[in-house]
Amino acid sequence: MPDIESLLKENRVFKPSKEFAKAANWSKKQIKEYRSLGAANPERFWAKMARENIDWFTPFKKTLEWKPPFAKWFRGGKLNVSYNCLDRHLEGDNAWRRNKAAIIWEGEPGDTRILTYAELHREVCKFANVLKQQGVKKGDRVALYMPMVPELAVAILACTRIGAPHSVVFGGFSAEALRDRINDAGAKLVVTADGGYRRGAPHALKPAVDEALKGCEGVGSVIVVQRTGEATEMQAGRDLWWHELMEGASAKCAPAKLDAEHPLFILYTSGTTGKPKGILHTTGGYLTHVTTTAKAIFDLKDSDTYWCTADIGWITGHSYVIYGILANGATTLMYEGTPTYPAPDRFWDIIERWGVTIFYTAPTAIRTFVRLGDEYPKQHDLSSLRLLGTVGEPINPEAWMWYHRVIGGRRCPIVDTWWQTETGGIMISPLAAGVETKPGSATLPFPGIHAAVYDDSGASVKPPNGGFLVLEKPWPGMLRGIWGDPQRYKETYWGTYDKKYFAGDGAHRDKDGYFWIMGRIDDVMNISGHRIGTMEVESALVSHRDVAESAVVGRPDEITGTAIVAFVTPKSGIDSGPALTQELRAHVTKQIGAIAKPAEIRFTDALPKTRSGKIMRRLLRDIASGKEAIGDTTTLEDYSVLAKLRESDDG
Ligand code: WTA
Repeated sequence: MPDIESLLKENRVFKPSKEFAKAANWSKKQIKEYRSLGAANPERFWAKMARENIDWFTPFKKTLEWKPPFAKWFRGGKLNVSYNCLDRHLEGDNAWRRNKAAIIWEGEPGDTRILTYAELHREVCKFANVLKQQGVKKGDRVALYMPMVPELAVAILACTRIGAPHSVVFGGFSAEALRDRINDAGAKLVVTADGGYRRGAPHALKPAVDEALKGCEGVGSVIVVQRTGEATEMQAGRDLWWHELMEGASAKCAPAKLDAEHPLFILYTSGTTGKPKGILHTTGGYLTHVTTTAKAIFDLKDSDTYWCTADIGWITGHSYVIYGILANGATTLMYEGTPTYPAPDRFWDIIERWGVTIFYTAPTAIRTFVRLGDEYPKQHDLSSLRLLGTVGEPINPEAWMWYHRVIGGRRCPIVDTWWQTETGGIMISPLAAGVETKPGSATLPFPGIHAAVYDDSGASVKPPNGGFLVLEKPWPGMLRGIWGDPQRYKETYWGTYDKKYFAGDGAHRDKDGYFWIMGRIDDVMNISGHRIGTMEVESALVSHRDVAESAVVGRPDEITGTAIVAFVTPKSGIDSGPALTQELRAHVTKQIGAIAKPAEIRFTDALPKTRSGKIMRRLLRDIASGKEAIGDTTTLEDYSVLAKLRESDDG
């Protein structure tokens, strides 16, 4: 993790190239104009974007209704997301896009599929009719638990066509995690696949759905995409094959005219308790935010082949694999599998073969490639690239420089984009035509976004001091709530500062007003760009019969940013050997998924606690990261002794 000290020493500056600026969607002049409009009157700025970038069936009457912390954007407006992502590219001046690639898909084994805008539209209409046939109505929730296959994009867009909010659950989550999410959202139908390909082999998904549904009363049917062709158990009366249902479906389906605030999707993300939060996004504001930012930040043009490597199971995949990209009529590339299969050059091979022009990935991936060595990108012609992006974690300046030099050939601007599941779209980012970049900084807020750094008392801190990242005004892509839990919504995001959004990240600004994001300051870890709550892992661990108590912390990791370290007190008489370590790691995988598996488990007789009984997490973090020296790591330790020494030291 970067600290302020080391970031302050970073003084390299990269100016936008004149050539890039001249051709950019947003010129230098426009950026300036939008910045001052967005600063003086954010509502006016966003209303302008909503009118310019989105097609409305009925124009909105009121830009914003703000009853903190509840916002309603574009009241009175009616629209449809799938219409904006598809139909409008088939009509009038845009009709030439009918046979343009909307999705270029590549499977891990090397099979490929291209869906043109007209084809994608047809598939989406057909699947929307399938959903209707299965009894899905406007407002009903649909859970999607799928690999990265084109059918996932089709299913998502079909849900938006009929106004059924989707809840995509990342395919790496376990059956238990899937069950909780299906139940919390009250989903009526699940779409899944027999499996997908990972690391050269088929990886089954359907068995996890079967397992999850043992505890879900509300699900009436399961639609299964045949991807791997492996033998798959189908339950009569409940499970149906995608291809069979699609065969008879009509390709005519009018898009529902939905209210701007109609729920678009729920996406679960980790919080500071054991229970994940169902982040709710709605239609008009979200679409305006992601469409505008994609156009301005990625500079999307009709000639681009854009590739974002995120899985659609995360917000990045929602906003910038699907919605923001298709709404702009661009070509989006989807890749099913592992970055290093069959060889460490897979990504660079994809970029060369398809002529990718815009590439958006995560710092963890970049650091992995740095370690693998320059020879792999060097085997490929990457000259098609013209813009690079990163997201998900702070990027260390060394990784930024490598990305700039080896992948971008020193010619591509890099947009380091800060945002969250909750913000819906990008909030802080360079704009390639008008913002100088500094390695490791997400630079400046997007026009219309009011970001600041506060101290404990709610005062703005002076540069270069650090503090808490805050958003001072509502924005169109903001979450509208936590599904079924308005109280938690208020407390988590709006309870720290009055009427201001608390992001949960630490940040500081430099003398130029640039933002440097320091990472999470709450009990949420960022593992390879994926959010995992310490409490979630702790609840998983204590649900094991041999565990009495546990505390989970993150420690810095060269590749994944943060690695999970679990301190575990076994029940008395339990042997804390390597067998238990293995069993507990498997147990967490079963409860949550492999992304939450601790990198290290340390057994302890007692956890260090304050007199009031609070676990001393900072001490554990110091121990985990080696800052606080303490003997052997595998034997049982009593850290409470250390805690007592600390407490008397602290007076
Ligand atoms: C972190 C992903 C530094 C941050 C879009 C945030 C970043 C969390 C950046 C949200 C960035 C995201 N620089 N940190 N450019 N982008 N983060 O909800 O801690 O999966 O709060 O959304 O990722 O993760 P989420």
